[in-house]
This record gives sequence, C-alpha cells and structure tokens, in this order.
Amino acid sequence: MNILILGSGGREHALAWAALQNPKCDKLIVAPGNAGIEQIAECADLDINRGGAVVTFAEENAIDFVIVGPEAPLAAGVADRLREAGVLVFGPSEAAAQLEASKSFTKEICDAAGAPTAGYGHFTEAEAAKAYIRENGAPIVVKADGLAAGKGVIVAMDEDTALEAIDDMFGGAFGGAGAEVVIEEFMEGEEASLFVLVDGEDVLSIGTAQDHKRVGEGDTGLNTGGMGAYSPAPVLSAEIEAKAMEEIVKPTMKAMKDRGMPYQGVLYAGLMIKDGQPRLVEYNVRFGDPECQVLMMRLGAQALDLMHAAAEGRLAEAQVNWADDHAITVVMAAKGYPGSYEKGTEIGGLDALPEDSSNIVFHAGTKAEAGKVLATGGRVLNVTARGASLQEARDRAYAMVDDIDWPGGFFRRDIGWRAL
Ligand code: AMP
Ligand code: GLY
Repeated sequence: MNILILGSGGREHALAWAALQNPKCDKLIVAPGNAGIEQIAECADLDINRGGAVVTFAEENAIDFVIVGPEAPLAAGVADRLREAGVLVFGPSEAAAQLEASKSFTKEICDAAGAPTAGYGHFTEAEAAKAYIRENGAPIVVKADGLAAGKGVIVAMDEDTALEAIDDMFGGAFGGAGAEVVIEEFMEGEEASLFVLVDGEDVLSIGTAQDHKRVGEGDTGLNTGGMGAYSPAPVLSAEIEAKAMEEIVKPTMKAMKDRGMPYQGVLYAGLMIKDGQPRLVEYNVRFGDPECQVLMMRLGAQALDLMHAAAEGRLAEAQVNWADDHAITVVMAAKGYPGSYEKGTEIGGLDALPEDSSNIVFHAGTKAEAGKVLATGGRVLNVTARGASLQEARDRAYAMVDDIDWPGGFFRRDIGWRAL
C-alpha cells in the first residue's frame, strides 16, 4: 500500500513511524514533513489545505491511502475532495469536522444526543452574552465559536474577566472565530482524553491519555499545545470509559449519522471526570498532539490496520491487541514558548540516543541544515518511551532528555506526576 500522511508535527512523525512498522506499507510520503520525518520517509512540499492540490499529488504518486493529521485540512474539505476522486482517506468530511470547528454545532449535537456536557448559551451579540454572564455568575467559561488555534477559550474565575472576554471576542481578537461565542458552565473534575476510531457506523476505542497543557511544573503558568502526555490515563478506568462510550461517543455518532453527516476518522473526546461520571469538554476531529505520540508507541504496527479498517468501514470486525504497557512523551520546547522564542538554535546529542521500539524522539519542529538539526518551532521534540509501568517509561524518557544537548530548549521535569 502506498500511503500519504498530511502534516508536519510530532503527531505526523509518530503516525509515519507506526505505518512503517507495518509490512503492508510499501511506500510512505509525508507532506510537508520535518527533519525527523525525513530520516524515515520521503517528504514532499505540498499545500495540504488545498483539496485540489492534494488530489493531484495523490493521483500522480499512485497513493492508495491518505491519513490526514491536523484539523485545518479536514475543516477545509480535503477529505471530501479525496473521496470524490476515489482516493481512500482517513479523516472526517468538512461537515463532520464541525465537531471541532464549531463549538455551537457540537453543543447542539450533544443536546440531540443527550450527551452529558456543560450547560451553555450561544450568542451572536455582545449585550445578550453579557446578560447571560451576569445572570449565571463566575466561574464561567467563554469560548469563541470557531477554530482559534487553541486560544479561543477563556476560563474566567470572576465576572469581569468573562465580560472582558466578550468585548475581546466581539471586538475581533479572534477574527471570524469570535463573531459567535458559546458560554459554558464551569465544570470541576479531572480531565482525560479518550480516542475512538469511527467508520460511519461502528466505533472502536484505541486508548486513553492525559496531557499537561500548562507550561510550568505543577501545571502552572500559561496554556500551551501540550508539554507532555502519557497513556493510559488511570482516571479513565474501564468503567468510566464504558460510560463515556455509551453515554457520549456512541449517541453523538448516531446523531451525526441521523443528520446525514456520518463521521469517519479518529474522534478525540476531551472529558471532565467527577465522582465517576464523565462529561464532554470538547471534541477534536484528529489525534491529539502530543497524545498521538504515546498512542502510536503503544499500538505500533496495528495502528495502520485499524485506521485502514476505519476508512474502509470494517471496524465491526476490528479489534485492538493490547500490550499491558505504558507510554509517556516529554515535550522539549524553545525557551520563551508559548511566548516569543528564538528560531534556528542547534540541537545536539540526537544521533547517540538509543532508538528502538521503546525509545523514540519524534520531531515536532526541526529542520536539517548542513548536517545539523535546528529548532524551527515552539514545541520542537517529543521524547517518547514505553515501559511495563509508567515509572519505567518515564525513567527511560528522562534518560534520553538528559542526553540531548540543546541549550536553547527547556522541558518539564514532572510529566506524569498526577498518575504517579
Ligand atoms: P477546549 O479548547 O474546549 O478544550 O478548552 C480548553 C481547556 O479549557 C480545556 O482543556 C479545559 O481545561 C478548559 N475548559 C473548557 N471548557 C471548560 C468547562 N466548561 N469547564 C471547565 N473547564 C473548561
Ligand atoms: N494536546 C492537545 C491537543 O492536541 O489539542
């Protein structure tokens, strides 16, 4: 099978690594890829948000299967264009991608599905939104309706912060994404994520994870895309996971089908768990980054078979062969992230690391230049390890981190603390 993966982050490096473990993968191209991906697969320069360009590229390169990594191409209808052209693709349609691209759409679907989630109001006008905030009081959560690169959510602990967020959003701070807002009840509890494959009809859980969103140790400081993650998430016990599947995921997928928008791809359910009851925080229509890295490490070669089964509508007969293992990833980021940071700093020590099926450094933002690896992004490396216990996996990951020589970078020393 000739495979094309779209994307350029640590998530796509992990997807590429897993695909290459599988003998069914004959040829692999990643577009646009990065310096780490380049070491294991062919990389191609391609505008992945333009459906026409992706279809032409797939046809010219005899691609049998396309795996879409990030949400932007999905929200731009790239999976639809591929399907229309008869190319097998893993990833939802533009209509179904609204589960991530529109918070109000997701809330309506949850209402239709009876899925437990935060109570909410949906507003297109600032005065009504403010009245709702004054009526309900703080803490309260204000969300820009559309895609806002993870920055469109304000968890307001007091009323003034919430009212200010409304002014910012209607004042254009998030562009079109903030022209509509959803205001939600603040939910308390512990957050964890559930990853499910869906083929339009059937669903299959492929694992749980928790990430560390805050930049600082002890989960303090500014929000980031994620400073580390581990799988499985102990808070998502088998019992709570079953509840999340029966009460949240399956009814949502049925509601999508009933609306003529059957979902196909991976569904990432962000959950808030309190007193044994999961409630939905949000859906994403892609793998989490860096959660994908720990899931791929645990699934290995079978990840390709499972994604292929989802794309072909064969999930009813698929199953996950679980090893009783744990995986963790530690993100190394450029100093200054998530604020401004220097680009082009040199990373040393990568070649000497032990890389095997239990120890891998996935690249998130690097480029190779004159034999050197340079940092090009905020989140740069995902140092990932697997073990019989979370502690073993963690010790392996930090042993690698300590051997990486990158004066321009930093990382958190406490990834996994909640679970340990
Ligand atoms: P989202 O982009 O919707 O995942 O929101 C980002 C983060 O904000 C989540 O991971 C939660 O930590 C927090 N959050 C979002 N909605 C709520 C809510 N209704 N109650 C409490 N925290 C929330
Ligand atoms: N790590 C969080 C996300 O991918 O949205």
